Amino acid sequence: MKMMNLFVVGGLLVSFAFGAKSISEDEIGLRRTPLQSEDKTKLQDFKYGDKAPGESQVFERAYENAPPMIPHDVEGLTDFTQDSNMCLDCHSPEVAADVGATPVPKSHTYDLRHQQAVQDGVADSRWNCTQCHAPQADLKPAVQNNFKPIYRSKESKKSSNLLDVINEGVQ
Ligand code: HEC
Ligand code: HEC
Repeated sequence: MKMMNLFVVGGLLVSFAFGAKSISEDEIGLRRTPLQSEDKTKLQDFKYGDKAPGESQVFERAYENAPPMIPHDVEGLTDFTQDSNMCLDCHSPEVAADVGATPVPKSHTYDLRHQQAVQDGVADSRWNCTQCHAPQADLKPAVQNNFKPIYRSKESKKSSNLLDVINEGVQ
């Protein structure tokens, strides 16, 4: 607590010494627009990839066993209902090879909570694909991401095996 007070007093002295200017609300944050009103705040122009499935190039995984990002257009494909999931029309293991799509991995056809394989299709927790897999837009990030992943094998840059390694470090 004493240390803390010293810092506060020190900070005040420094501000007085250098005649600290107040900062307007437009200068706070990365958007450089007033905090109180968003009327004039414009989003950066961005466009999601519009290549049809089958014509796009897959991305390298962001890190080992990261959910792969979606390289193709998802327009019209994300209206998930209880009975319909268009992603699985191409990504379910039975059809994926025929359409040149990556099949969902073993982790998606396994019910982790009850620790058993699901009988049919994917586990309920995997139904809403875009909860974890996101399409990508080409834009200039306001803050550069300097994260550098380390992969333990060449394969893990483009494929995943979470279910095989899920207990690593646990057991
Ligand atoms: C008409 C078939 C089709 C549909 C529908 C489809 N995909 Fe794909 N998807 C593909 C193909 C083919 C690829 C491989 C890249 C390519 O050829 O465009 C792919 C690639 C991907 C990848 C990258 C896989 C990797 O190994 O990096 C992800 C993630 C993905 N799709 C998720 C989805 C999701 C989520 C949906 C639903 C919103 C969806 N896809 C709907 C065919 C499809
Ligand atoms: C709760 C988050 C989550 C949901 C929901 C989810 N995924 Fe994944 N997905 C992941 C993660 C994490 C990985 C990579 C690790 C793993 O599971 O092997 C992955 C991997 C994949 C891969 C790559 C497989 C490989 O062998 O490299 C495909 C394709 C995929 N998911 C498609 C889908 C589709 C289609 C759906 C919807 C039916 C879906 N995912 C739902 C998190 C999710």
